[in-house]
Amino acid sequence: MHSYVWHPYTQMNQWPDFDVITSGKGMWLQDSKGNRMLDGVASMWCNVWGHSKDELVRAMITQTRKLQHSSLFNLTNDKAEDLAAKLVGLAPGMHKVFYSDDGSTAMEISAKMALQYWHNKGKKKKTKFVTLENGYHGDTIGAMSLGYVHSFFSRYKSTLFPTIRIPVPNSYRIPSGFTLEEFQDKCIDRIEKTLSQNDNIAAFVMESGAQVAGGVIIYPDGFQRKIGALCKKHDVLFILDEIATGFGRLGSMIEYQSQKSIPDIVSFGKMLTAGYLPLAATLASKKVYDAFLGRYQDMRHFFHGHTFTGNPLACATAISNLSLYKKYSIISQVKKRSLQLQKRVDEISELELVGDVRHKGMLMGIELVSSKARKSPVAPEKNIQKKIFSEAKKHKIYLRTLGHIVMLVPPLAIPETELDFLIDGTIDTIRKVAKKI
Ligand SMILES: Cc1ncc(COP(=O)(O)O)c(C=O)c1O
Repeated sequence: MHSYVWHPYTQMNQWPDFDVITSGKGMWLQDSKGNRMLDGVASMWCNVWGHSKDELVRAMITQTRKLQHSSLFNLTNDKAEDLAAKLVGLAPGMHKVFYSDDGSTAMEISAKMALQYWHNKGKKKKTKFVTLENGYHGDTIGAMSLGYVHSFFSRYKSTLFPTIRIPVPNSYRIPSGFTLEEFQDKCIDRIEKTLSQNDNIAAFVMESGAQVAGGVIIYPDGFQRKIGALCKKHDVLFILDEIATGFGRLGSMIEYQSQKSIPDIVSFGKMLTAGYLPLAATLASKKVYDAFLGRYQDMRHFFHGHTFTGNPLACATAISNLSLYKKYSIISQVKKRSLQLQKRVDEISELELVGDVRHKGMLMGIELVSSKARKSPVAPEKNIQKKIFSEAKKHKIYLRTLGHIVMLVPPLAIPETELDFLIDGTIDTIRKVAKKI
């Protein structure tokens, strides 16, 4: 079959064909030839319950029969309203919800909101963003500017807006002469200096809890809280990205709550609809929202909107998803499964090729290196991503690496036996690939 699909982040030359997924049930994806694979990356980190979860499918069918789409321009819809109320109830310090279609647009919205906030406040100089090195916030121009990953985005650099980037403490790659704690203090000092010496800063933007696409860098205790406090002290908006890390991925429903750092603006996506439909939400505090109020002719209102903003079908799915979080106490299940992952960390760390294993909640990054002593990442010419994918497939698991980092990001509700199957298969995959490079 000739395919007309151009795949994301893929050298098309290398893939004469792709497995064609035609159905999914529970943790398993099934292809057109009847082969099954365990979904080890939760279909790009968004699946919560596995595929074809009855309650969710029923909620989607019910909503599809009633209203498929109606716009939020001049109107509202019952599902967008209900979901917004639930999100505000869940997220401390938040007051209003602005919907969009995916994580990248949610982050574009958070940046535009911050810029217009200061414009509306009459502080028009405040237009710069401070970010963390190695952060990732999506693939659109604004999101790429905020979360600049060199290997992904260097081709587009000339078009991206500059941000002030602060190093992030990565326990595996602390500069020599520092302990993790000392390096963290140095990063915090840099932030304090940056915020106190520049009066043009609109916002500090960071992923909440951990950097995911940047290689699973889990922040040391207190790092995020200290940054939040500095933002308050220096009158800079604090923007958090919980698109990949919220909704239980790191073990907490709202990650910023467990980090004790209340943002001014926060975005959720991915697992919001259990990974069934595209939907994201950017939540703003009352302080931020109030700055957009005025008379029409003041033009203080937010100049942003998409065709599918607040799509009722996606919102109904998210509402049903939230009710399942309660019904099945998924956060306490995640804690158990997280311990199961943690118990295997040493075993994985000892494998040839593995330099470091970083883990929190239902997120694990396994960093592959060609030399453990030098910590040198496996080089791109080794084509590790394709090798891992192909070998994992033989073990009936679907893995997608990020560069030289193997990501284990299963659906949150993965049962104990299937999580063991995934870990065993991953270990065997790495062993086999180590022999081939
Ligand atoms: C932290 C973070 N922010 C934003 C995004 C972008 O989300 P999307 O791919 O839905 O545009 C991602 C995607 O992986 C992400 O991990």
